[in-house]
Amino acid sequence: MISVKKISKQYIKKLFTFISGDKIHNQNFQNKVLVNAFFEPSTRTSLSFEVAMYKIGGKVISFNKDISSIKKGESFYDTIKTLCVYGDALVIRHPDIKKIEEAQQIATIPVINAGNGNSEHPTQALLDLYTIYNHLQNQSINHSLTFHDKDTNQNINILFIGDIVNSRTIHSLIGLLCKFENIIINVLPYKDCNPSSELLQTLLSHNSLSGEISKETLNIEKYDIIYSSRFQKERSSQENKPDIIIDKEFMTKVKKTAIIMHALPRNEEIDPKVDEDERCVYFKQMEHGVLVRMGILAELFATE
Ligand code: NCD
Repeated sequence: MISVKKISKQYIKKLFTFISGDKIHNQNFQNKVLVNAFFEPSTRTSLSFEVAMYKIGGKVISFNKDISSIKKGESFYDTIKTLCVYGDALVIRHPDIKKIEEAQQIATIPVINAGNGNSEHPTQALLDLYTIYNHLQNQSINHSLTFHDKDTNQNINILFIGDIVNSRTIHSLIGLLCKFENIIINVLPYKDCNPSSELLQTLLSHNSLSGEISKETLNIEKYDIIYSSRFQKERSSQENKPDIIIDKEFMTKVKKTAIIMHALPRNEEIDPKVDEDERCVYFKQMEHGVLVRMGILAELFATE
């Protein structure tokens, strides 16, 4: 799993149905070993893959680049070759966009992209999408995302706020959302964080209207889903600060039935004082991360 481009609606439906049932809790892959290899910091993605693997009965080993033979000059090629001897699947995060695909070409075991530079983060996008799916189910909303055939569909409006150019979670989630109908996607970038022309083109073809809005044209009341993201300091040389903060005042304008999402970690863009508001689901997303990754791994080992 390298990019959302290759994830089909059929796969998503199968995955969501599987993890919404009981079977997911009765998996036993005791002979399987997952290798976690993070060349960039992580809390949630690495730990949730680890716990997901334990919950489906498997085992995990973790590669730490700082105490590895990379320090003795070992190449990326030899490192990946080595990891493939020890494990049955490789979860890898890397700051360089190209390295995950390179790993896949070297690897003899399945490779899962856990974030490559500012490009993609497909498993985060799946857990984000599952959070949206769950929300629509809870509200009994018929939608293409909840796999209703004949759509008596209402439109869902989603707004992404933040470092649009550098947020891989936003890129991957938009990639998945564009596979579904009746979702209107808008982006509200922080100063100097505008989307790439490629992303704007994707939004234009999906919405049939430009997807970029500004602070001046923002109409908070209209959105069903608001997805905030932090300024990706590690990928930018600029000193920047979020110019939109989700705080108590912001929340007074948000729809009663809307949800506020964030992949975490957060910096200043969401005031912790709003955490208790039931529309804020970022900690729920974390729970879904474990479940979705259990499903991804179980499906992978079952079809191997
Ligand atoms: C995201 C990431 O690493 O891209 N975090 C995550 O995986 N939960 C978002 C971020 O770091 O801002």
